[in-house]
Amino acid sequence: MCAVGDSPLDGYSLLDFNAPLSDARSYELIGGLGVVTGATVVDYGCGWAELLLRAVGHVPGARGLGVDSDAAAIARGNANVAARGLRNRVELSVADVTTWEAEPADVAVSIGASHAWGGTAATLAAMRARLKPGGRLLLGDGFWEREPNARAAEVFAPGELGTMSELVDSALAGGYRLLGLAAAGRDEWDSFESRWCAAREHWLLANPDHPDAERVRAVVDEHRDGWLKGYRDSLGFAYLTLVRR
Ligand SMILES: C[S@@+](CC[C@H](N)C(=O)[O-])C[C@H]1O[C@@H](n2cnc3c(N)ncnc32)[C@H](O)[C@@H]1O
Repeated sequence: MCAVGDSPLDGYSLLDFNAPLSDARSYELIGGLGVVTGATVVDYGCGWAELLLRAVGHVPGARGLGVDSDAAAIARGNANVAARGLRNRVELSVADVTTWEAEPADVAVSIGASHAWGGTAATLAAMRARLKPGGRLLLGDGFWEREPNARAAEVFAPGELGTMSELVDSALAGGYRLLGLAAAGRDEWDSFESRWCAAREHWLLANPDHPDAERVRAVVDEHRDGWLKGYRDSLGFAYLTLVRR
């Protein structure tokens, strides 16, 4: 897979979020987090921190901390921090989420980063330990909307994901109450996946004879195949707004 910064291809350049998430839903989710002046929002596995910047940018006096192991993603985030005048309120760090330490937060965010902690249950436990009592968590995580076919099972190991109700049950069992539930729609998924592919297709058009072209073409063909013949009709992505008990 081509990561952000893989020279000379930025495979995420056409994405707003590294998740199936529309502008409209991002603001709905932010609204559900109840960020207030003086609150600290911490995004674990923030990527280029678009959701964090929107959440903090909306509330004067709120503070944001973001952490991700991808230095190029954090560099993109830092450029946006400066461009949006948020330098005095947002700090982004390149680090491993599992060893990075911060004060307990009012609001925590973990979108598409459960693998960093070893799965959903471990993520819920880690976020709970990093939240103040009564703090809110926005968890973005995968689930099976329908039984995966064989091609989808090649992309996501069997047992890696459960159903939506199993996801909610693990949040309840993990010491949270559920304040809000949403799932990415077909448009959000198709927009996310096709823009992921399009960044590579545009690069291939501009660099047909580049020594990496064959590798990039193989990566995007494999990805499109796994999406369209595999998980497009079965994979869901849930956004759970949770409150820590
Ligand atoms: C699917 S992306 C989601 C990014 C972001 N939350 C968003 O929605 O745009 C998952 C992110 O988790 C980060 N990540 C994975 N394992 C990590 C770890 N152990 N420490 C820090 N970041 C990690 C990746 O670098 C990547 O940016």
